[in-house]
Amino acid sequence: MLRLGGRALAVGLSLLAAAANAAHPVAAKRAMVVAQEPLATDVGVEILRSGGNAVDAAVAVGFALAVTLPSAGNLGGGGFLLARFADGRAAFIDFRERAPEKATRDMYLDDHGRLTEDSLTGWRAAAVPGSVRGLEHAHRKFGRKPWTELLTPAIRLARQGFPVSYALADSLRTSARLAKFSESRRIFLKNGEYFSPGETIVQADLAGTLERIAKSGSAEFYGGETARRLVAEMSANGGLFTLADLKGYKVVERAPLTGGYRGYELITAPPPSSGGVGVLQMLGMLEGSGYDREGPGSASAIHYVAEVMRRYYADRSEHLADPDFHRVPVAGLLARPYLEQRRNTIDPARASSSDAIRPGDPAPAERAETTHLSIVDAEGNAVALTYTLNGGYGSGVTVPGLGFLLNNEMDDFSAKPGEPNMFALVQGEANAIQPGKRPLSSMTPTIVLRDGRLFMTLGAPGGSRIITGVMQVLLNALDFGMNVQDAVNRPRFHHQWKPDELYMEEGFSPDTIALLRGRGHKVASTAGVALVEAIQVKADRLEGATDPRGHGKAAGY
Ligand code: DON
Repeated sequence: MLRLGGRALAVGLSLLAAAANAAHPVAAKRAMVVAQEPLATDVGVEILRSGGNAVDAAVAVGFALAVTLPSAGNLGGGGFLLARFADGRAAFIDFRERAPEKATRDMYLDDHGRLTEDSLTGWRAAAVPGSVRGLEHAHRKFGRKPWTELLTPAIRLARQGFPVSYALADSLRTSARLAKFSESRRIFLKNGEYFSPGETIVQADLAGTLERIAKSGSAEFYGGETARRLVAEMSANGGLFTLADLKGYKVVERAPLTGGYRGYELITAPPPSSGGVGVLQMLGMLEGSGYDREGPGSASAIHYVAEVMRRYYADRSEHLADPDFHRVPVAGLLARPYLEQRRNTIDPARASSSDAIRPGDPAPAERAETTHLSIVDAEGNAVALTYTLNGGYGSGVTVPGLGFLLNNEMDDFSAKPGEPNMFALVQGEANAIQPGKRPLSSMTPTIVLRDGRLFMTLGAPGGSRIITGVMQVLLNALDFGMNVQDAVNRPRFHHQWKPDELYMEEGFSPDTIALLRGRGHKVASTAGVALVEAIQVKADRLEGATDPRGHGKAAGY
């Protein structure tokens, strides 16, 4: 019989404790990169090791992902980069795509006023891309290494090729949209057959485009040979944007949104992201509510958080949009009395009906397949970067001869206000299509400080589920004290007001689900709850966590 006593018992118990807290983040002393594809993570670590800062690494990883993660990494999409520097400065670079000048409000409706597929598939789905100009802007302003050095790894991966992973092979096999376009088939199939894991994929045209960008910067992409060939193909194929659209594309630096939660300071994404407002609104409704009394994953905690989600997404549908076109009442939406008033409509014992929850009436505004990577460098500078083509492989269109995919970001607008988009989001007039406007986004790159020091950097792909995913990881870490890997791993749920469903991932117990049904929730199961990539800063180390739902990698040195 095994008998434990004294020291043996203590050791035994500590082993048990380690087992109960089963998920271990990747630890490193100085610097850390977490990205959704391992080759790209390795590029980032290499840049950091050789003296690059977090922004340099983010730019290099961004270009590498355009090669190794073609479903989401991109030159033909857009995104947001949030940086917080060791000296306390923060910057938010908005390189979200814009609607072309020829875009019109009802461009995706047929003669009977019904929504067509055109906002999702093909040339007309693409908005004017921002990624190349955004990465260049970040590098010019905050980078340290020569520009060409940051593109070299991506060029090598495209020109020499790299072995197709199981994840990439599966993803290429299942993308129906990609298979509709001959240039996409030419590059992402091998002589008409799917790539098998381990085979080498070479992207020579993309290498050529990257080499031109390495040599001449974004001027090449927005006004040079790449631009001319892109718009020639655009107009030959019924697409909308012109050379003037490309030349006129501007990155916008915006003040990051900031807010507090239980002694932590959050730095996050302002509009045209809906995510920062979302996280801060939801945390604001939760703070002091006692929602967490029964512990993480309890029916009462899930119920309360789902009700908070429902109220935020109702507000999102009406009040959030591109702030250059719509007066977004950010201060009103985040005002404490407003959030208290919203919270007071929550019944801790019963689910509300989404039809009964309307967007709120905050004080009016004063004038005023996505992927995420998180990086912290050895000096304590942090970057959270989320960028996207929108759907997996975007519009499905690879520009002939240029080797990159075009986004289908136009679907993030309210193509028909009041009707759901790809993410089943019901959105209103504020986010209707207008020339030059940026579609409302859910991307939520976020950085958290405690006592003025860097505590965490995180973000995710996952459409509307990004915002609730980021928030739940924050709750797990800040309220329930989980380590960053446990916080990312825990099963998640999602409510977005409409449809009136509480989506739950596998991993919740049947009795928890029964209790939620008993409170009136319409519980549905879901497999898609965002992929959170996060880094936590501890006193003596950095801890990185890639979401086990995906195929990413955390690594550092
Ligand atoms: O900006 C947005 O909200 C969407 N275009 C993000 C799309 C996305 O996350 C897809 N990835 N899973």
